[in-house]
Amino acid sequence: MKYNIALVPGDGIGPEVAGAAAKVLKIIADKYGHEFVFTEYAAGGNAVDRYGIPLPQETIDGCLAADSVLLGAVGGPKWDGVPGDKRPEKAILGLRKALGLYTNLRPAAIQPALASACVLRPDIAAKGFDLMIVRELTGGIYFGERGRNEAGDAAFDTEAYSVMEVERVARRAFETARKRRGHVTSIDKSNVLETSRLWRETVHRLGETEYPDVRLDDMYVDNAAMQLIRDPSFFDVIVTSNMFGDILSDEASQVTGSIGLLASASLGDTSRGLYEPIHGSAPDIAGKDLANPIATILSAAMMLRYSFDLAEEADCIEKAVAAVLDEGWRTLDIKSPEDETWLTGSQMRDKILERLIND
Ligand code: IPM
Ligand code: MN
Repeated sequence: MKYNIALVPGDGIGPEVAGAAAKVLKIIADKYGHEFVFTEYAAGGNAVDRYGIPLPQETIDGCLAADSVLLGAVGGPKWDGVPGDKRPEKAILGLRKALGLYTNLRPAAIQPALASACVLRPDIAAKGFDLMIVRELTGGIYFGERGRNEAGDAAFDTEAYSVMEVERVARRAFETARKRRGHVTSIDKSNVLETSRLWRETVHRLGETEYPDVRLDDMYVDNAAMQLIRDPSFFDVIVTSNMFGDILSDEASQVTGSIGLLASASLGDTSRGLYEPIHGSAPDIAGKDLANPIATILSAAMMLRYSFDLAEEADCIEKAVAAVLDEGWRTLDIKSPEDETWLTGSQMRDKILERLIND
């Protein structure tokens, strides 16, 4: 089969990691007889430099016309001073919105080989964990009304959710749980926020009427932040709002060992998704070949699984990554303090490619 992939490398380490993932996909294409056609589009700070805006229309159109989108990362200190509506981050937010990607899946699991990179107490890490954060992605405070007063000495952002917005992401969470361990934890701040009260009511109504077989519980977000490090094995599927999901998924990444390992899939009502690592553009290490490409490579595997229904090919990538880690290969972000050597980003990429070719 032929698949058209929009490649949006972005800024900082984005091009390095997206390039590595594209190479992995090319090997998969050869191995399984598919054709992946990549078309590159600008977004983020580099688009601000070239076109004066972070998300050119051509990029939106190209992504809408593609079968799926692979994105590196955007942003960097160079663009810190630009006005809010031209910030590189606007590109990601605009793409998510334009493509209708209201669900963000962020898996976080402890890899046995990396237990020593886990920041948790060994007895907690030993229990293992494997959780999926289902983050709402096109609503909430990220997209609510915002502004400043005339004097400029006060500002506001608004959290807003409709029943429809909560239902569609919650449905995704319940469906995901059915394929996993059948447990959803809905995270909110309903002791304070009205949007959270609507969130909780809606999730429960849906759970009782359509998913009675799935175990559903709730947690306040402050408590959830604590439980994620106290006993992450409690969680199976977490469903939560845009901002809470943003924060909790960074926390979950550290619990697994490194933010350089965590992939994500952003999905809507069609098979077209956007796949990106959860980490940012890491300008401090950009161009030094230090970035761990694994998060983006695993995001490419998610693309095969969720957008193209190529589960075997996705398994093949995930197994290659696990095998390379099992053999003890490490990048700077996941090495243990005693390790005196480690792989550069391109060496890690090549180890994974070798494994894919030879297996
Ligand atoms: C993420 C990022 C983005 C977000 C930024 C870059 C807009 O932090 O994907 O988690 O907050 O969603
Ligand atoms: Mn984030």
